[in-house]
Amino acid sequence: MTKTMIRSVIRGTGSCLPARVVGNDELAGRVETSDEWIAQRTGIRRRHIAAEGETTSTLAIAAARAALADAGLEASDIDLIIVATATPDYTFPSVATQVQAGLEITHGVAFDVAAVCSGFVFALATADKFLTSGSHRRALVIGSETFSRILDWNDRTTCVLFGDGAGAVVVEAQEAGGTVSDRGVLTSHLRSDGRHRSKLYVDGGPSTTGKAGHLRMEGREVFRHAVGMITDVVEDAFAATGLTAEDVKWFVPHQANKRIIDASAEKLGIAAHKVVITVQDHGNTSAASIPLALDEARRDGRIRQGDLVLIEAMGGGFTWGSALIRW
Ligand code: UT7
Repeated sequence: MTKTMIRSVIRGTGSCLPARVVGNDELAGRVETSDEWIAQRTGIRRRHIAAEGETTSTLAIAAARAALADAGLEASDIDLIIVATATPDYTFPSVATQVQAGLEITHGVAFDVAAVCSGFVFALATADKFLTSGSHRRALVIGSETFSRILDWNDRTTCVLFGDGAGAVVVEAQEAGGTVSDRGVLTSHLRSDGRHRSKLYVDGGPSTTGKAGHLRMEGREVFRHAVGMITDVVEDAFAATGLTAEDVKWFVPHQANKRIIDASAEKLGIAAHKVVITVQDHGNTSAASIPLALDEARRDGRIRQGDLVLIEAMGGGFTWGSALIRW
């Protein structure tokens, strides 16, 4: 006998990328690097960079509008907005309240979560807990970033890696049968370990320098931990549901580096044709990378209703997490 329960079902997706595209060759004109080095080490060929006046909140609002249209819902149907970002327009108010105002929503609750590159997984897991508790009905979960604003454009070890953009999903509480055949978020797993906080950080902030600061990273150290942490937390998702790599239709990882994605998929036994990769066109857009990839794979017809989708991410903190979603 199965029991009825509430699941958080993804009802629509949307995204927004700045119009300006910067190729590797353009960066090679600024710092000592080459298209060949960047492409070979990371898989990145180009990234979108926000124009003046384009901010994390303007990108987030555009992605949210696209997701609402895709879901066939009005802004007034939303009672929960969670934005994952490490690059807010202001120290406060949150980007989420800016999105709420931009969409002219005056009810419900809106807040940001800070988990850097893992932010979208953290935000979706948080929304899932609100929706399945019965306290809220429809959520906008958004990952939005303008990392171009916190890069040191003279540091070749970081400035070639990141890009700007936003992705959004509309998540709705729906009655379900309580099995892994249900549509919706089937399980989510979040982890963090602050001992690693100085391996990937920003060297400023309101309470220290009073300035936004610049991203600093020990790339090799992050890389060294990434695959193990990612595969561990995905194995947790499989163990919690009894599902396996075989059951996964689409693997939509955080897009930091194609070598990390390939090594994780291989270690998990997920075939290459099931992996959604956008890093070549977007670079690492931190919390935006997964919802951007979800939106792309759904709009081009890859992700369809009923498909089992695996998402995972790892980033600054360190933070890491995974979720299995039946579309
Ligand atoms: O999303 C959040 C999580 N972040 C990540 O997942 C990033 C994880 N790390 C990485 O993706 C990789 O470590 C990088 C792409 C950052 C670097 O790749 P790597 O294969 O680990 O290279 P490396 O740091 O070991 O550097 C190799 C060489 C160094 O020169 P030496 O010391 O061997 O002479 C670097 O100075 O490459 C040099 N280098 C560059 N050369 C040309 C570093 N950056 C560049 C560059 N162009 N842009």
